[in-house]
Amino acid sequence: MPVSRTKASSRRPLWIIVLVPLVCVSLTVAYIFSPQHYSSCYFFASSVCNPFKDWLPPINSRVLTDEEIASRVVFRDILSAPLVKAKQPKVAFMFLTPGSLPFEMLWEKFFMGHEGKYSIYVHASREKAAHVSPIFIDRGIRSAKVVWGKISMVDAEKRLLANALQDMDNQQFVLLSDSCIPLHSFGYVYNYLMHTNMSFIDCFEDPGPHGTGRYSEHMMPEVEENSFRKGSQWFSVKRQHALLILADSLYYTKFKLYCKPGMEGRNCYADEHYLPTFFHMIDPAGIANWSVTHVDWSEGKWHPKAYRAEDITFELLKNITSIDEHYHITSDEKKVEMIKPCLWNGKQTPCYLFARKFYPETLEKLLDLFPNYTKFN
Ligand SMILES: *[C@@H]1O[C@H](CO)[C@@H](O)[C@H](O)[C@H]1NC(C)=O
Ligand SMILES: *[C@@H]1O[C@H](CO)[C@@H](O)[C@H](O)[C@H]1NC(C)=O
Ligand SMILES: *[C@@H]1O[C@H](CO)[C@@H](O)[C@H](O)[C@H]1NC(C)=O
Ligand SMILES: *[C@@H]1O[C@H](CO)[C@@H](O)[C@H](O)[C@H]1NC(C)=O
Repeated sequence: MPVSRTKASSRRPLWIIVLVPLVCVSLTVAYIFSPQHYSSCYFFASSVCNPFKDWLPPINSRVLTDEEIASRVVFRDILSAPLVKAKQPKVAFMFLTPGSLPFEMLWEKFFMGHEGKYSIYVHASREKAAHVSPIFIDRGIRSAKVVWGKISMVDAEKRLLANALQDMDNQQFVLLSDSCIPLHSFGYVYNYLMHTNMSFIDCFEDPGPHGTGRYSEHMMPEVEENSFRKGSQWFSVKRQHALLILADSLYYTKFKLYCKPGMEGRNCYADEHYLPTFFHMIDPAGIANWSVTHVDWSEGKWHPKAYRAEDITFELLKNITSIDEHYHITSDEKKVEMIKPCLWNGKQTPCYLFARKFYPETLEKLLDLFPNYTKFN
């Protein structure tokens, strides 16, 4: 050991002589070719750049890339442009399902008498859906295979939105699964979604392995680690936000390439992270941060609680519909619980319009109970 140390110290002057000019050259090169020097803000007058600065949430004083500037002007105009006035404002119910929908009869009861105020779209990704209710006939859209946890899930959501956006009357776009049920009367759901400017996108910061632990630095510079968010995929979005989702390719591509199962030895699921992160970055004040679709994770298992026929009681449904706080828990060792009131136009209100994870065997009981549990709203 002493021998090598003497050797090293005797060589030091030569190392320094070689290193100092090398470092100087690379620093100069890095400075000249740094992204700042190539960004358009460097070339344009400050008056061109300032409007972006005023509108954009601060990004740690980083200068935006060309793609970011291009994306964000499009997003800003979508968010600020007035919508074409709908002749008959409607809610689009978009069902993402492998095949047939077990609760068609329950949904029919829900929709009955409200023709003209809703539209239905069904993306059946595995097999053609067989229908028992006439209101679902011919509501299928062209679909493609969906693999759980992969970007094909987001692609199916975008396909549903693209179809539903074709109808100018659709103002709110609700994503539902085959295991979802309605918790309120149609009138209640319609007013809840129509009379607010918010989108109901679940979004929270989880510093643990199931949250930020899934982030990949390949998403830099546009998606920084401290912007990475998590949330349930079951959203309800207003028309401008539906358009934003279709207008985005920059952030979508980041998640498509760098948020997938098995990425760098971790499992990242684009459907749980892309939209929460995207809206947190682009329009944080425009989202509620909770989903209007209830699911029960309280058992702390890998999957949420799924309801069997024997679980279905008037009391259970009343319990779910009376929840007026949303709850998140971090996946790190601290298991920090975050409980916040569900504020609808500033007023504390029940959080949930729909609930999921009901087995098909619950249909009979739900049909019986539906007029009861929706009676008072
Ligand atoms: C939504 O926003 C528009 C335009 O800012 C406003 O006129 C309207 O009153 C808002 N609606 C609700 C329910 O907050
Ligand atoms: C949602 O969370 C963001 C912070 O991530 C916050 O700025 C925004 O106000 C929240 N939305 C509501 C409706 O409270
Ligand atoms: C309903 O909520 C009450 C109070 O939290 C609880 O004691 C009861 O077990 C719940 N019932 C069902 C069926 O979930
Ligand atoms: C629904 O409510 C009615 C009257 O309030 C009651 O008679 C009936 O038993 C209830 N149905 C169920 C399935 O609980």
